[in-house]
Amino acid sequence: MADRIYYPNAELAKTSYCNSMDQYKKMHEKSIKQPEEFWSKIAKQFYWETTSSNDKFFSYNFNRNEGDIFIKWMEGASTNISFNLLDKNVKCGNGDKIAFYWEGNDIEDYSRLTYRKLLEETCKFANVLKSKGVQKGDRVAIYMPMILELPIAMLACTRIGAVHSVIFAGYSSDSLAERVLDSKAKVLLTTDGAWRGSKLLHLKAICDQAMDKVKSHGHNVESCIVISHLRRVTCPPGNTSDGGKTKNGTSNGSSSEVNLSWDDDRDCWWHEEMEDADSSCYPVWVAAEDPLFILYTSGSTGKPKGVLHTTAGYLIYAATTFKYVFDYKPNDVYWCTADIGWITGHTYVVYGPLANGATSVLFEGTPFYPQNDRYWSVIDKYKVSQFYTAPTAIRSLMKFGDDLVKKYNLDSLKVLGSVGEPINSEAWLWFYYLIGHGKCSIVDTFWQTETGGHVVTPLPGATPMKPGSASFPFFGVLPELLDEDGKIIEGEGEGYLVFRQPWPGMMRSLYGNHERFQTTYFDKFNGFYCTGDGARRDSDGYFWVTGRIDDMLNVSGHLMSTAEVESVLAEHGAVAEAAVVSKPHPVKGQCLYCFITPNEGKNFDKQLQDELKKKIRERIGPFAQPDIIHHAPGLPKTRSGKIMRRILRKIAVGDRNVGDTSTLADEGIVDLLFQLRPEA
Ligand code: WTA
Repeated sequence: MADRIYYPNAELAKTSYCNSMDQYKKMHEKSIKQPEEFWSKIAKQFYWETTSSNDKFFSYNFNRNEGDIFIKWMEGASTNISFNLLDKNVKCGNGDKIAFYWEGNDIEDYSRLTYRKLLEETCKFANVLKSKGVQKGDRVAIYMPMILELPIAMLACTRIGAVHSVIFAGYSSDSLAERVLDSKAKVLLTTDGAWRGSKLLHLKAICDQAMDKVKSHGHNVESCIVISHLRRVTCPPGNTSDGGKTKNGTSNGSSSEVNLSWDDDRDCWWHEEMEDADSSCYPVWVAAEDPLFILYTSGSTGKPKGVLHTTAGYLIYAATTFKYVFDYKPNDVYWCTADIGWITGHTYVVYGPLANGATSVLFEGTPFYPQNDRYWSVIDKYKVSQFYTAPTAIRSLMKFGDDLVKKYNLDSLKVLGSVGEPINSEAWLWFYYLIGHGKCSIVDTFWQTETGGHVVTPLPGATPMKPGSASFPFFGVLPELLDEDGKIIEGEGEGYLVFRQPWPGMMRSLYGNHERFQTTYFDKFNGFYCTGDGARRDSDGYFWVTGRIDDMLNVSGHLMSTAEVESVLAEHGAVAEAAVVSKPHPVKGQCLYCFITPNEGKNFDKQLQDELKKKIRERIGPFAQPDIIHHAPGLPKTRSGKIMRRILRKIAVGDRNVGDTSTLADEGIVDLLFQLRPEA
């Protein structure tokens, strides 16, 4: 069946930066054939303290036979990102423009921040960091809710050349500790706590546990800077004895909500440190390839990978993708719902929008609080023109019915974005018709923590859309499909999605482990960056990303590895062996399905299942909680002892068509596992 095509709205196309497929093709060709010319023209829009010479603008090696893998853009150039995002915008007349509208967890809580104020706060906090001994190259770990201090803290790091490592504030203390330890962070930033819907998160307490663990491994976090957040926000009904409001409660900085333990030598309050801080701070000029940030992402061995991004290339790529993919215009209000703890938040809440002088919404809450219409009410409230979210959020909101959406005026919308996993056509069509009223372009953006920015995506004024297809490569990106033997598939076909050459925003290394970077991404197919995703190209040349082909899974847009979950399950005293596979899930996209072999003499009962779920929540985070725990007296293994996950995936979905089982050591195990299916 031919896929139906949806053309960009003619009105939108008229004014868009790239308004036809012809223009797209010309620009893409130029970006591939003359990358120096293409990107140096874009780089001119930014301030460089020193510039790069033409012959050094771009160099790389993707071939391990020719030495180490490296990627360098704009060698010789130096700059400062906070200077480009803040000082430059203030100097060109945007000082009073709103950088962020902050919308809190509760509808009562909101504020705003102009570019001038953002610059001032950034400089002040940069001076605070300096006073704590933070210098160029030092790592600063950040574990925070979505509040204005988060971009301020990140930009303050860039001001002085420090490297930030933001850790999603839904991670457990173990996960936080592992990341702080790997990056050897000198400083940790957090808040006393935060409300997520009506749930209170004890962030400082989690940090305390993490810092203890880090210490027991021989690393000391020198300072922990704490924002007193709870006293200034509304407390959900039923959570305090005084009826809810705590905003005007204690103002001495000690939280009225939670009892904090405090180490006077290490811990300090953000507001006290900021009080006397100087509001000017001369930027530290850093080299093009100096590190900007580390962001941890799951690795298939279970140990998280510290993806390292550097300065110049990331800046120009974040800025350019933001401009073309969202088609942002000066009076637009843009909203990306992603948490800054993920790459989407780094590139498309902080760096991309600010590099374009954009006005954005920064949202602390959830789509379901206080009601399931929160997203639509926020779009209406701020007259949002670009709305960027995840398929899992769309699917979870679809089920509440259309009336909740129709209560609001969504006419301001022009571009809708999707990211994190393939979007199914049902969700795409709901997004297109109900949210976009059939007049907005949908940009289904495929990319990864590693790619730094969008790599396969429609452009809203140019690309005819096919629901579920990320369509075509962005400027500078040259995708190929390879078969198992590494042979290039021409024309229509399906295979491993790889990239042939670097674009400015791609990762440079894994922090502290360049060898792992090379083996993870370049060993499978020498000469190509391997994404780990499969994709199909149709007869019109559209790319359709089909999902991970390694042992990774994607639960509500959170990437995790089966190995990571298995190793936590196997720590339980009653567990002899654990095998984890993904199972399709109507809302989350995929969910965790765990096969557990109990130790001799141990019972497989409800208590064990609950303990295992709890363990995963505590050790990894609540988002990783398994949906199903399946009793497996044995696992299907080859004679050499390798678990056949292909068969486990079939059992998980109840598909008896398991294929060839002749290589199994014990063929009878498959039948037994079907009999023990919890849903059967
Ligand atoms: C998946 C998120 C299909 C993919 C930016 C990738 C997608 C992983 C899409 C990276 C999309 C992301 N269509 N799949 N539009 N966007 N993915 O590092 O499997 O959290 O490898 O980065 O998400 O997840 P990460």
